[in-house]
Amino acid sequence: MTLEGAEGVGKSTNLALVVEWLEARGLEVVQTREPGGTPRAEAIRQLLLDPAEGEPLDDDAELLLVFAARAQHLARVIRPALARGAWVVCDRFTDATFAYQGGGRGIPAPRIAELETFVQRGLEPDLTLLLDMPIREAQRRLAGRGGERDRFERERADFFEAVRAAYLDRAQASPQRFAVIDATRPLAEVGEEIRGVLEERVSAWQ
Ligand code: TMP
Repeated sequence: MTLEGAEGVGKSTNLALVVEWLEARGLEVVQTREPGGTPRAEAIRQLLLDPAEGEPLDDDAELLLVFAARAQHLARVIRPALARGAWVVCDRFTDATFAYQGGGRGIPAPRIAELETFVQRGLEPDLTLLLDMPIREAQRRLAGRGGERDRFERERADFFEAVRAAYLDRAQASPQRFAVIDATRPLAEVGEEIRGVLEERVSAWQ
């Protein structure tokens, strides 16, 4: 199961809620994130997020780093967890690649899909919660947080508009896998909706 959305939409809070919901039903949950999830994949994450301005990161190099981290994460964490029957809840996965490297950077989706096939060999999330909100609102929330901005957070609003549009396109193309959540509403309401989605979809698999 994966959680997706542009920066500032409240992924972390809602991720905790999903994990709590699953654990309350006695399920083993592995909570993880991308890029990252293992020490080596987290090192690749640092490379990706480091705003070091001396040397711009080539778009294809960025894409390959994302998938290198993913291959490591799949091999070390995700596949072993699924094999023993645990539930994997991942903060971002390949939909983020289609949204950021595809929508944001403009890499054609078929090229990303080739790497997806190569690295994932058919594995994809059973359920993807897409937290959606207008970019202006998400950026307003992000600005309220303060702190250093990473290489992606420094992008302009039109980059995030393209990210959002790519996410929504993917959700529309696979409605059986995605649930799109309107994240502009108060946290309690968003949480209620997520619980409802879990109730409906997860209960149906058990
Ligand atoms: P996070 O801030 O949600 O932890 O994600 C880190 C950043 O990595 C975020 O700006 C989105 C970006 N990212 C990609 O560009 N492609 C990907 O495939 C993933 C998983 C994340």
